[in-house]
Amino acid sequence: MTTTIARPTRQASRAGWLVPVGLILLTLIPIVAGAARVTELSGAPAITADNARFVTSPIPVIVHIVGATLFSILGAFQFVPGLRRGNRWHRLAGRVLVPAGAAVALSGIWMAVISEHAPADGVALSALRVIFASLMLAFIALGVRSIIRRDFISHGAWMTRAYALAVAAGTQAIVLIPQTVIFGKYEETSRAVFMGAAWVINLAIAELVIRRRSTRRTVRSAS
Ligand code: HEM
Repeated sequence: MTTTIARPTRQASRAGWLVPVGLILLTLIPIVAGAARVTELSGAPAITADNARFVTSPIPVIVHIVGATLFSILGAFQFVPGLRRGNRWHRLAGRVLVPAGAAVALSGIWMAVISEHAPADGVALSALRVIFASLMLAFIALGVRSIIRRDFISHGAWMTRAYALAVAAGTQAIVLIPQTVIFGKYEETSRAVFMGAAWVINLAIAELVIRRRSTRRTVRSAS
C-alpha cells in the first residue's frame, strides 16, 4: 500500500494567510488606541479625566499594551498552516507568545483590581475582566502543558481559546459602538453586558474553529 501525503493547494495556502489578516484587522482598533496611549505616556501629558489613572500608574497599562500588541499580531500568524509546518517559526513565536499572553492577562487583572477605574467601569465589568483574564492564563498554561506532553491537538485547542479571549478586545471595540448609541457611553450595566458578550462570542467562535479542525482531521484520516 502506498501512502500519499496531501500537499496544500496554492488556493488553500493563500486562504490560510487570510486568517491572520482578518485577526489583525479585528484587533486594529485596540492596537492603534494602545500605541496612542503609550506615545502619550512617554511624553509629559497634561492630566485629564481620561488619562489620570494611567499617568499616575503607567506600568500596568504599558506592560498590557506591549504584551497585547505582541500577542495579537504574532499570535495571528500561529494560525497559518504553512508556518506551523515549518515548526521553527511556530516554536520561536510560541516562546514569545506565552510570556506576552501572561503579561496581558496579569496586567489586565492588576488594572481591574488595583488601579483606579474608568468612570463607566463598574464592579461587574471588573469581575468579568478578572474571570476572563484568569481563564486566558489557565488556557495558556494548559496549552503549554499539552505541548510538553506532545499532544499537538489539545495544544492547538487551548491556544485557540486563549487567543480568542485576548482578541475579544477587538470584538469589544465593535460591540461598544451599538452599546454607546443605545445606552450611552457611561451606562455601567450595559457596558459590562456588551463587554462580557464579546468574550462569550469569541469563545463560541473558538469552539466552532476547534470542532471544524477535528471534523477535517476525521475526514482526512478516513480518506
Ligand atoms: C483577557 C484579556 C484582556 C483583559 C482582561 C484586559 C483588561 C484591561 C483593563 C482592565 C484595562 C484598563 C481599562 C481602563 O482603565 O480604561 C485595559 C486597557 C487596555 N487594553 Fe486590555 N485587556 C485584555 C486584552 C487586551 C488586548 C488583546 C488588547 C489589544 C489588542 C488590549 C488593549 C488595551 C488597551 C489599548 C488599553 C488602554 C485603554 C486606554 O488607553 O484607554 N487589551 N485592558
